[in-house]
Amino acid sequence: MRAVVVYESMYGNTHRIADAIGAGLETAFDVRVVSVSQAMPEVIADADLVVVGGPTHVHGMSRASTRKAAVQAADKPAGGLKVEPDALGPGLREWFGSLGDYPVKAAAFDTRMHGPAVFTGRAAKGVARMLREHGFHVVAEPESFLVTKQDRLEPHEQDRARDWAAKLAAGIKQS
Ligand SMILES: Cc1cc2nc3c(=O)[nH]c(=O)nc-3n(C[C@H](O)[C@H](O)[C@H](O)COP(=O)(O)O)c2cc1C
Repeated sequence: MRAVVVYESMYGNTHRIADAIGAGLETAFDVRVVSVSQAMPEVIADADLVVVGGPTHVHGMSRASTRKAAVQAADKPAGGLKVEPDALGPGLREWFGSLGDYPVKAAAFDTRMHGPAVFTGRAAKGVARMLREHGFHVVAEPESFLVTKQDRLEPHEQDRARDWAAKLAAGIKQS
C-alpha cells in the first residue's frame, strides 16, 4: 500500500511534522513525503492514503498574503527563523484549487500555537473540509501539532506525530 504526505511549510515545522508522520506510516505503507509545490496530481494518483497538512495562519489555512507576511517576519534578525525554499510558492488552498476528485482515504493535520483551538484557529479543519470537497474519505479527526510563540516545535511533537500516524496506519490496516 502507498501513502503520500503532502505538506506546506514556511519555517520548517510542518515539514518536520510531515516527516515524522511519514515515519509513523511506514509501519504499514510505502511512504512518500512531498512539499505542496511538488505534489503533482500523478504523485497522489495511485495512493491508498493521502495525509495533508499546513501551518495555521490567521485562524485557518494560509493565503498568499499570509505567506508573504511569514517571509517578511523571518527577515527580522531577532527571530533566527529560516524560510523553506518554496515558502512563497503555492499553498494548500491553491493546490486544492487545481485538484480533481480522489475517492481515497485521507487525513488532515496542521501546526499552530499552543492554546484552545477556538482562540488559535486551526488549518486542519479547512484542510479536512477541502479533502471532503474533493471526494477523499477522511478517516481521522483533524490533528494539530504545536509550536511555541517563537515558531519552534514544542518538545515531543515529532514523537506525537509519529505515534498519531502509526495509529492511523494500524486502523487502516485492520479495516
Ligand atoms: C502570518 C502568520 C499568521 C499566523 N496566524 C496564526 C494563528 O492565527 N493561529 C495560530 O495558532 N498560529 C498562527 N501563526 C503561527 C503559525 O501557525 C506557525 O508559524 C506555524 O505553525 C509554523 O509552521 P511552519 O514552520 O511549517 O510554517 C501564524 C504565523 C504567521 C507567520
